[in-house]
Amino acid sequence: MGLYGRKKIKALIVVGARPNFMKAAPIIRAMKASGAFLPILAHTGQHYDYNMSKSFFEALGLPKPRLYLGVGSGPHGQQTAKVILAMENHLLQKNSRPDLVIVVGDVNSTLAAALAARKLNIPVAHVEAGLRSFDETMPEEVNRRLTDQISKFLFITEESARKNLLREGIDAKKIHFVGNTMIDSLYRNLPQIKASCILDKLNLASQSYAVLTLHRPSNVDNYENFNKILKIVEYTERKLQVIFPMHPRTLKQLDSLGLNGRLKKLKHVVVTKPLGYNDFIKLVSSARFILTDSGGIQEEATVLKVPCITLRENTERPVTVEVGTNVVAGTNLANIAKNINKVLSGTAKKSNIPKYWDGKAAERIVKILQNHYETFGSNTYV
Ligand code: UD1
Repeated sequence: MGLYGRKKIKALIVVGARPNFMKAAPIIRAMKASGAFLPILAHTGQHYDYNMSKSFFEALGLPKPRLYLGVGSGPHGQQTAKVILAMENHLLQKNSRPDLVIVVGDVNSTLAAALAARKLNIPVAHVEAGLRSFDETMPEEVNRRLTDQISKFLFITEESARKNLLREGIDAKKIHFVGNTMIDSLYRNLPQIKASCILDKLNLASQSYAVLTLHRPSNVDNYENFNKILKIVEYTERKLQVIFPMHPRTLKQLDSLGLNGRLKKLKHVVVTKPLGYNDFIKLVSSARFILTDSGGIQEEATVLKVPCITLRENTERPVTVEVGTNVVAGTNLANIAKNINKVLSGTAKKSNIPKYWDGKAAERIVKILQNHYETFGSNTYV
């Protein structure tokens, strides 16, 4: 029983891949603190290596998942289908039906879990709704659009998302601007981030290096594009040291495209395994600049006020460009070089922290959900 003898609202929170964990942790914490919810964590197992998954559970204080689906890697259709099958199976079991399923971000697990719930008429809440890159070849763009269409609660991190959702015919009443739960995690972990010894371990002085991350299929899955990126890395390492925590997908592609030898020749590039959360954020916070194709890192760099040069032609997170430190620079070497030189000469743009990226997004989400369920009850329509 929750407060005042009410039945607790049973919420199944689904995570699957690395960028999901920091978005979900604050919601679970806020739900527990409210006393009105029974949060249950499900892990699809899309990411399964210790350093892609469990180390994040430890760093973020996530509870052990009550449900582990173990889907692993595979082609998109297969991975998505496996999550749908396993999730549906769980939701159909006696006493397993939640009042609400919460999905975060835009990975295959996000869409698959949302679809399984929606087909059983269980309301879905999408955290980080409405972001659009308008690049239809990006797997995440498909996941975002479809998840938003079947969600009842759309929690957005920036105003651009509201416009996107309204354009797609979503009812305005479903959209709630709450801020960014990934940034809630960053603020909460600041003491552990400050205490990280990663700079000493890698023998680095603050501001003396750049951080590189790469994993988008568009950058690493074909020879020509990866080759372009390597030229950027070769240029950058002539200016300052490059620290490159390498995603497993990128390592696999480097090997299969025969490009690993070329990277190994670069004396000022340090390749590491994927880092834990606190170490990675510490590394970013002390870097001169970031080169990345990640979505989340554009946001983390913005909050840490570290210049971010995004190696993509678009971003689904325009507030990081309009307000934050981010520049969408593509993969053209001349353009990247121009942006690097701006940072090194101290003429990178000034930035601010976007609205509601204040560490309280999860509290806002929980308040909205609690109000809804207390007003309309658990038999809420989908
Ligand atoms: C997924 C998400 C992407 C997110 C990224 C963060 C989709 C479509 N993509 O991409 O949006 O930015 O996670 O990392 O959901 N692998 C391992 N160990 C693991 C996980 C993956 O070795 O724990 C390797 C496997 O070889 C696998 C490959 O990485 O085939 C890709 O993994 P997958 O989950 O399919 O996609 P990501 O590229 O990680």
